[in-house]
Amino acid sequence: TQPLRIALAGLGTVGGGVVKLLETNRALIERRAGRPITVTAISARDRTRDRGVDLSPFEWVDDATTLAARDDVDVVVELIGGADGPALTLARSTLANGKAFVTANKAMIAHHGVELAEAAEKADAALKYEAAVAGGIPVIKGLREGAAANEIGHVYGILNGTCNYILTKMESEGLDFADVLAEAQALGYAEADPSFDIDGVDAAHKLSILASLAFGTTLDFDAVAISGIRHVIAADIAEAASLGFRVRLVGLAEANESGLFQRVHACLVPVSHPLAHVAGSLNAVVAEGNFVGRLFFEGRGAGEGPTASAVVADLIDIARGEYGPAFAMPVTSLARLAPAKAGER
Ligand code: HSE
Repeated sequence: TQPLRIALAGLGTVGGGVVKLLETNRALIERRAGRPITVTAISARDRTRDRGVDLSPFEWVDDATTLAARDDVDVVVELIGGADGPALTLARSTLANGKAFVTANKAMIAHHGVELAEAAEKADAALKYEAAVAGGIPVIKGLREGAAANEIGHVYGILNGTCNYILTKMESEGLDFADVLAEAQALGYAEADPSFDIDGVDAAHKLSILASLAFGTTLDFDAVAISGIRHVIAADIAEAASLGFRVRLVGLAEANESGLFQRVHACLVPVSHPLAHVAGSLNAVVAEGNFVGRLFFEGRGAGEGPTASAVVADLIDIARGEYGPAFAMPVTSLARLAPAKAGER
């Protein structure tokens, strides 16, 4: 059988993890994929950094965007990041060439997912992005396939591990936001621009993707009302605790007759709700379906192993030819509900 030949663009934490996972679980992956998955070419800015894995068998290329046109590549795996720039150029050219594209890039999917999904449809190519939302938690599959027969009323969750780490640390140690920020960043989960984490933008990227999948609506990142956790102080958390609540940064989306409502902000979560027990850097997603009832997904939303696990799961689907449209189809547009102004919530 023909191997599935992949090219890796970007070799940070996740890229290194993908190489390690393909190597460590090679036999199992080949069995499940029905054929070998092999790396043909790799591209990264820094060739010298030790990634804890042997990269010598692979061909290095300087310009990642050239990967899209290679005859010896079936799938381009984009782990560069950034909504625009080389990641987007690579996505467009890969799909235009009729090749499959796998990405962990939530910002790019949130901003350009509709355009890329259309390009993928047109070319009859796979566009897969399981790793873009909640890292290792198979929530894209869970909503797109697992809950496909359900009317979903709302979807919500803890979508940023850096913020959840900060909030739970403030809670357990009575510290203020600024005291634990550096510690959270040392975990290595923070975005290149860490304000994306603490101001809620990263969670909003993920929420807009989940909303589109849950409700079959067009991705509408610009309509998410966003606030972060900079303003939360230890006293807020102590006060909430005395009333039976915990503070969590929650992304929540709802679709009803009047439209699509999406927001990310610090919430009081009753201790009786499972989200109140999501601790440290974990992520969790809740969806309520009209036949399945409440679904609760929890796991690691970032990091080498979990994110690589999601990327390779996408590759296995592609190897087996098991992939459908990138988003729920048919996609409908709902009226955009104006984000509530501060003080109106
Ligand atoms: N910066 C993100 C987080 C990484 O902290 O959850 C995963 O998208």
